[in-house]
Amino acid sequence: MSKTSDLVRLSRGDVGALELEALARVIEAGYLGMSVEVQAFEKELTDYIGGNREVVCVNTGTSALHLAVQACGIGIGDEVLVPSLTFVASFQAVSATGAKPVACEIDRDTCFLDVRDAEKRITSRTKAIMPVHYASNFEGIEKIYELAAKYNLRVIEDAAHSFGGTHNGKRIGAVGDILCFSFDGIKNITCGEGGAVVTSDQAVAEKVRDARLLGVEKDTEKRFSGQRSWDFDVTEQGWRYHMNDIMAALGRTQLKRFPDFAKKRQEIAKRYQQFFAQYPEIRTLKIDYDNVVPHLFPILIEKGCRDELRDILEENNIQNGTHYKPNHLLTKYKTEYDLPCAEDFYKKVITLPLHTLLTDDQFEKVCNVISKWIGRD
Ligand SMILES: Cc1ncc(COP(=O)(O)O)c(C=O)c1O
Repeated sequence: MSKTSDLVRLSRGDVGALELEALARVIEAGYLGMSVEVQAFEKELTDYIGGNREVVCVNTGTSALHLAVQACGIGIGDEVLVPSLTFVASFQAVSATGAKPVACEIDRDTCFLDVRDAEKRITSRTKAIMPVHYASNFEGIEKIYELAAKYNLRVIEDAAHSFGGTHNGKRIGAVGDILCFSFDGIKNITCGEGGAVVTSDQAVAEKVRDARLLGVEKDTEKRFSGQRSWDFDVTEQGWRYHMNDIMAALGRTQLKRFPDFAKKRQEIAKRYQQFFAQYPEIRTLKIDYDNVVPHLFPILIEKGCRDELRDILEENNIQNGTHYKPNHLLTKYKTEYDLPCAEDFYKKVITLPLHTLLTDDQFEKVCNVISKWIGRD
């Protein structure tokens, strides 16, 4: 095993002195629950995203998705279309409501939900569609909204990867039915853990606000004005999913630093894309890194043994990943049908180190190890 200091990490949060200051501010204030920091973070996110949206912060991206599905009135007996190639969080968020996540195929070139496959899986029970911004990509989203309009479905976008991207000149989150972000430890911005639901639907936002605090009605409004809910009512199932001031203080700092983070992530992805263009053995996704702020960088090994390359990367102390094992291959979500593109992707994918603290030397090392492997014969 090589020294930890040599390790090229797959991903990591970029936190330091400014985040320490933010944490000190909350500790000095002496209130750690959901209060002024969360309120300020929600306002700053609303301004940043644009489009005059409702932003409700929660404790994870998974809970953002769960509450969004629940707020649409979706539950037992209902179905939600989800691309199989996603983190299990998307599927768990649907099944947490009692509804069934229906695994769908992905487009080979972009990994976005294959709209033709999704249409085939619509039944009278289908209530929503959950496109996933895999590797931060959202190319193809218009077709999803056309499908949703045709069948009167809600759209809950799993935008866990795509915070800070822009589409048609607008920030991701500025338009669309409901979007959910993740701010976990390695996302484009981090709160340690965290998430947000973004929508223009006031009724949905209201339901999410109440449900994040155990269903206690109007608890958010009270907390934000320094009061507590001693006399309250509960009419719906809620959860303890709210964001707290420690998380929000981290998030506010990260949001200020985000322009630098975005630039660095986009530069690395463009350099990888350019580097791999010379090798027909390796395929990269068709992603426009002028508009996308990448969370992951997947490559597909089209010729040669993927696992051999993975072993060589590990021998060289380069962390790498598999994003993701398709959910329809998991016992809980097993299907009777195949999804060939998602399965093929799973066999070929390796995700490469991508984070704002990746050095030029580390980047070169990753590229050199892979080019040496390609030229091995
Ligand atoms: C596609 C996708 N959806 C949802 C989530 C869940 O986010 P969180 O980890 O904040 O719960 C993740 C997290 O990695 C994700 O990658």
